[in-house]
Amino acid sequence: MSRSRNAAEILIAKAEDRSATFAVMGLGYAGLPLAVELAASGFRVVGVDIDQAVVDGINGGRSHVSDVSSERLKSLVSDKFIEATVHADRVSDVDVVCICVPTPLSKTKDPDVSYIVAAADAAIEQLRSGQAIILESTTYPGTTRELLLPRIQERGFVVGQDVFLAFSPERVDPGNAKWHTRNTPKVIGGITRECARVTKALYEPVFDTLVPVSSPESAELVKLLENTFRSVNIGLVNEMAIVCDKLHVDVWEVIEAAATKPFGFVKFTPGPGLGGHCIPVDPHYLAWKMRGLNYKTRFIDVAGEVNSEMPAFWVRKVAEALNKVSKPIKGSDILMIGVTYKKDVGDIRESPALDIIRLLVQQGANVSYYDPFVSVISNGGVELECVKLSSATVKGADCIVIATDHSSVDYDLIRREASIVIDTRNALAQGEGGGS
Ligand SMILES: NC(=O)c1ccc[n+]([C@@H]2O[C@H](COP(=O)([O-])OP(=O)(O)OC[C@H]3O[C@@H](n4cnc5c(N)ncnc54)[C@H](O)[C@@H]3O)[C@@H](O)[C@H]2O)c1
Repeated sequence: MSRSRNAAEILIAKAEDRSATFAVMGLGYAGLPLAVELAASGFRVVGVDIDQAVVDGINGGRSHVSDVSSERLKSLVSDKFIEATVHADRVSDVDVVCICVPTPLSKTKDPDVSYIVAAADAAIEQLRSGQAIILESTTYPGTTRELLLPRIQERGFVVGQDVFLAFSPERVDPGNAKWHTRNTPKVIGGITRECARVTKALYEPVFDTLVPVSSPESAELVKLLENTFRSVNIGLVNEMAIVCDKLHVDVWEVIEAAATKPFGFVKFTPGPGLGGHCIPVDPHYLAWKMRGLNYKTRFIDVAGEVNSEMPAFWVRKVAEALNKVSKPIKGSDILMIGVTYKKDVGDIRESPALDIIRLLVQQGANVSYYDPFVSVISNGGVELECVKLSSATVKGADCIVIATDHSSVDYDLIRREASIVIDTRNALAQGEGGGS
């Protein structure tokens, strides 16, 4: 048996009998659910994070990610299937290192891959023969081959023989009750066929469906296509919301009727703009990569433009509505309902509700907010504490802006008591007693 076959066969056998051990670097919205699913599949997992509070929470059985229940985490921690540490050198103990660190944008909207580089350096410094590294962070096509492969080769390892390298995009959808880590198909692209074979064997016990593609570049691009698809289609329906507003047509009625077409139409809904860590960010990774190849990704740019103008559109709608009752924005009491970037999650990163608040405050409004998931907001000089959603707060507001349609909000109360409602999500139309 050759050296490569040996290292590959050993890892594959360890995957089959669950004796393979994993490190997950980065224990956030993507990394923690992966760590939990690996552990629940029978693998021992060391979670590595640079944030001591995250590590302490996990070791104490407290989940900071809404899709992972503390009960589930606690039992995996107490059964010693998961432990967390800030010490990156612990990756030398494991067979497989999964990298799930952030991939934000720099101030100039260029990819900031410094977290990937830092985590990869820490892992590769400790790398030993027989290990596999799987990059999961969303990034531009070429990252695995251009940033990770040379670092491994510099250490004298032959990828596909001594060690195995693949890209497998994290596809978690926070708050999605139907599609979670295990039942969401997992795309895998290995640097070599052997890398893909080993990664497939490692992930087979963890995911219901694996989708091998021919290279890491394909796998990297799959994720960017998915998120660009969302960004472009959200941009399209947001533009349709503006078109309908100008034509005095109900955009929601148009979309619902269009969605009855059983083929050739995919329903997307307009809203206050794009938010979260992925959709507003990821397409820029692709646009940046293509700029370097002298190609301008026009759909990405146009969708970004339309989506980022939506908060200003909704503020104009507030101004128009107040104007009808002879009130200016300045001095008006405006109550925001929902400030997270999507319903039923606690994440306010890149939330367009924050842009709406900022624009309203700039124009002199007295803004307050209610969000069952967010107790305080501190953003760009605006500091707010969540108020109660009561008859008094609803009646006391000159205008209510529904920016996020959390399921638990009492929409009947708003229907009954509010004087003006700007409903960016069509929450009030979605049935009595609930918003979804
Ligand atoms: N949040 C999502 O819904 C989602 C979905 C799919 C893919 N992704 C992708 O997954 C990646 C991670 O995103 P996230 O939302 O989980 O981010 P996050 O901010 O929730 O978590 C990242 C964690 O990584 C830690 N970290 C940073 N540098 C580290 C290092 N060098 N070593 C170890 N830990 C380190 C941070 O302390 C943090 O706890 C990104 O590329 C993102 O685009 C996210």
